[in-house]
This record gives sequence, C-alpha cells and structure tokens, in this order.
Amino acid sequence: MILSGKRVLLIVGGGIAAYKALDLIRRLRERGAAVRCVMTAAAQEFITPLSVGALSADHVFTDLFDRQDEQDVGHIRLARDTDVIAVAPATADLMAKLANGLANDLASAVLLAADRPVLMAPAMNPKMWAHPATRRNRATLERDGIAFVGPGRGEMAESGEAGEGRMAEPLEIVASVEALVAGGGRPLTGKKIILTSGPTHEPIDPVRYIANRSSGKQGHAIAAALAKLGAEVHLVSGPVTIPDPAGVRTIHVETAREMQAAVEKLLPADAAVFVAAVADWRMADSAGEKIKKVAGEGPPALQMVENPDILAGVGHHRNRPALVVGFAAETQNLIANAQAKLNKKGADFIVANDVSHGGGKAGVMGGERNRVRIVSKAGVEEWPEMSKDEVATKLAALIAEKLGAAGG
Ligand SMILES: Cc1cc2nc3c(=O)[nH]c(=O)nc-3n(C[C@H](O)[C@H](O)[C@H](O)COP(=O)(O)O)c2cc1C
Repeated sequence: MILSGKRVLLIVGGGIAAYKALDLIRRLRERGAAVRCVMTAAAQEFITPLSVGALSADHVFTDLFDRQDEQDVGHIRLARDTDVIAVAPATADLMAKLANGLANDLASAVLLAADRPVLMAPAMNPKMWAHPATRRNRATLERDGIAFVGPGRGEMAESGEAGEGRMAEPLEIVASVEALVAGGGRPLTGKKIILTSGPTHEPIDPVRYIANRSSGKQGHAIAAALAKLGAEVHLVSGPVTIPDPAGVRTIHVETAREMQAAVEKLLPADAAVFVAAVADWRMADSAGEKIKKVAGEGPPALQMVENPDILAGVGHHRNRPALVVGFAAETQNLIANAQAKLNKKGADFIVANDVSHGGGKAGVMGGERNRVRIVSKAGVEEWPEMSKDEVATKLAALIAEKLGAAGG
C-alpha cells in the first residue's frame, strides 16, 4: 500500500473529463491516501465543489484570494503540505500556464509554488492536443520534471470526435501517482538494470529469417520508465522499427545468441528484465547463400535446433542479479505456464500476458494496450487493462519497490 498515509493534492481543471476526477478521489482514498482538492473556476462548470468535498472529506479550495483559506492554509502551504500533486484533468490552459510560469489563479499559483513531484493527466480535444503550442508546452513541462500519464486514444465526449486526447483512466492515474510517491522521484538512482526487448530474427539464409510479431513497444516503454526513476538502463533490443528510448543505453542485436552474449557481458547488475520475445528455435545451419527454388524439388526441409534460454541462464547464473523478471506471452493456460516458468527459470516474478488475440492494433503483440498478471511465489496479481506506457510505469514502480525490499 504505497499510498497509505500519503497526502495527494488533486488539482481539477475545467474539462469534460472532470467527472473522472470524482472516481479518482475514491480510488486514491481506497488506497489510504488523504486527498485534498483544488478546483479551477472552469472545473466548477463541470462538477461541483460539493461532490468533490463529499468524496475527499476535506474542504475544497477554489479561490486564490479567499481571505479565510489564505489565512488558514494559504496557497504556498497547499503546495507544500502534500507528498505529491496530481492535475486531472490537466487542461491545455493549465499546461500552458505552468509551462510559461503564469500564476493568476489558485491552481496555477499552487503549481508554480510547488516543490513536490507533479503528475499531469491531460485531457482535451485531439486537435488541441496535437497543436504545436500544446506539444511545446508538454516538452517544456517534461524538461522541468513534470510527469505525465496519458492521454490515450479513443472516443471523445464530444460526439463524432476521436483520437489522442482522452484522459487516462483513474486506475492508470493512481498507478502513476504510486510510482511518483514510491520514488520520491528517482528511487532507482545507482541501480544498473538490464532489459531485453523486441523480437529476435533467426536467419534461414542471407535474405530470409524466422521472426515473431513483437514490436518492442512494451519493453522499450519499461526501459524508459525505469530510466525515469533514475536507473542506469542497458537495453538489449532485437530488430524493431521504434526509436531507442531516451536516457537508455541501447545495444542492437539480431539473433537469440547475440542477445544472450550481450546480456551476459552486461552482468553483474541489480536487476534484469526479460521482455524480448526470443525465438525458441533457430536453423541448425543457416545457408550461406540464398536457398534457390528448384523446379520439381519442393520446399526445403528446415532443420531447427533450440536457442539458448536467456532468462533461465541469468536466473541461475553465479552473478544472478538480485531481481530477475521474466515475461510470458501465452495463448493458453496462461497462469499455469507462467507458474511453471517461474520455477524452471529462477525468476522472482513473471509478467504474464495473453497474446491469443493475434497481432496488429487489436492484439497485445504490436498493439497499444496490455493486460497483465504478475505471477510470483506469493500468488497472482491481476492488473486492469492499461496502455503499454501505464503498464511500464506501474512495473517500474514495482521493480523499485522490490529492489528496495531486497536491501538496495
Ligand atoms: C464544454 C467544454 C468542454 C471543454 N473541455 C476541455 C477539455 O477537455 N480540455 C481542455 O483543455 N479544455 C476544455 N475546455 C476549455 C476549458 O474549459 C477552458 O480553456 C478553461 O479556460 C480552462 O480553465 P482551467 O485550465 O483553469 O481549468 C472545454 C470547454 C467547454 C465549454
């Protein structure tokens, strides 16, 4: 219970997604957090201070020049008497104000006076989100150390509008708040973490290869999330079409054997996270020349041999990291297979995901969203469906917690 006894200052901006802030308050309080709320004038056009106050069980702050509030608490103390500040929904306007140092109402004055971690959950029309001004503001805020969750893609509240701009769901926001609180910012500073991501390509001949549908999106997102928490991340990536994550040292490999050699060279480390979809088999002998189609001879028989098991190799290595995490992509018997993998491979926990829905946008492999279960000796923890970035944030927080517990 990372949030137990923690104070969250929730700033509610004026967007249609403000109604989700009500559920967010409940979710935060369920986890033991004390939630205090600031509402902008625009926010009060969408939801009332009455319902926000009832759910937060605290006074709701709305006015920079409220004599009583300024005397009792004051905007500076509002900004300081908290462990973390969440802005949900973060309007284009609030982002613009903070990016430019404006402070002409209570919400913006509190944000400017804050020296605590700040999380923004933007929500706006896709055109507003895509506007160069908003993109500039987001980049500025990120450089200033503001954390973001979402927005996701989907239907907007306005009928007929769809695209990127939908506020992250309350549970995703909670996961990001937990990550911020767990770390006080950068809890993994000084920790070396090895991570594998993407598929491997196993050559059949110089032009053909055996591959799988892994895009590397989930693994790369985890590498970025670990780096944001301060870890020194060494990413060993199979062939992918996405860019190297910022703040991470990336080594590019092609085959399972190259991936294994790169990983073992990086040992010792504090943790190793194996997200890559490594091919189980490779060709016994890959042909030096392109295999020719010969009329009347039919297709060649492909003779395969087993690839090294990189996870098991590190799980049982004499230089085994304190924390070893595996991924299990299964199409059936998800939990039983993950549990078997846990023991056989010497992993501390397995992140299991069901990939039976195939590839492409709708499926896990290549898609944008993921629903995982954490399988450890202690049992199985189900996480709700989230974007891959949110899974990454939550997993990075869990890794930080486990490494802390391991005495680091
Ligand atoms: C019906 C309606 C819906 C709105 N939804 C959003 C929204 O989702 N995101 C946003 O950034 N602004 C939205 N706006 C515009 C903001 O309410 C407006 O920019 C306001 O000044 C924001 O104030 P605040 O940032 O102090 O909360 C909406 C306005 C209206 C009238």
